[in-house]
Amino acid sequence: MHRAYRIAPSILSADFARLGEEVRRVEQAGAELIHFDVMDGHFVPNLSFGIPVLESVRKITALPLDVHLMIEKPALYLKQFVEAGANSISVHAEVCEDIPAIVTRIRELGIRAAVAINPETEPTRVLDAAADLDMILVMSVHPGFGGQGFIPESIGKVRAIRRELDRRGLEIDIEIDGGIKVDNIGLVANAGANVFVSGSGIFGHRDYAEIIRQMRGELQAALRLDPSRVRKNLFAYEKSFRTLR
Ligand code: DX5
Ligand code: ZN
Repeated sequence: MHRAYRIAPSILSADFARLGEEVRRVEQAGAELIHFDVMDGHFVPNLSFGIPVLESVRKITALPLDVHLMIEKPALYLKQFVEAGANSISVHAEVCEDIPAIVTRIRELGIRAAVAINPETEPTRVLDAAADLDMILVMSVHPGFGGQGFIPESIGKVRAIRRELDRRGLEIDIEIDGGIKVDNIGLVANAGANVFVSGSGIFGHRDYAEIIRQMRGELQAALRLDPSRVRKNLFAYEKSFRTLR
């Protein structure tokens, strides 16, 4: 069982006038994914960026691009996002009538498939399709804006999802997105999340390397407090930290 713990800065909180430099800085600071938030003003009450920006980011980083589609009709754009350089795409369960079909489509395009759920959406919506997923994205804020406060109930939700995945013997990633900072990353890791999106928690600071180092310290401490998890994941855990030191 290999579970790697990954930090994914959300460039929604970056300085867009210097986006290339911001991406390079988080890459050098030890980030393992770049989280790319796409908003359409319909599914969420905000607009962000889309395909041309992804193409530009693709040219300047080797890190996997983790695309989070907060849009009403994700199926219409999958191919374009893949061609623009996405390595994984998350679609929202709330707008997908046929989750298995869209997941199959994403995988046919050759990348990792994930389904996201809002704070008020029941885990069963994604768990039913879990066997075909690479990742479940649990929103820990209402999607649409960076810089919101973490919803504490998300911890129980992550724990319930991880328990159910373990029960079924499915080792897939659980990504947590919204309000993740140095002071709560350990808690969500202990609950079973292993991919941590952080926007304002990273870009709101001057020294990205220092913040990511602190997050990693919290992860290490939290996971050591949970002997069963650490034992089970020792290999991936040590490997993922070793490469970042
Ligand atoms: C919210 C986005 C998040 C956001 C997280 O709709 O999906 O990825 O950028 O930002 P913080 O970490 O500031 O809550
Ligand atoms: Zn996001």
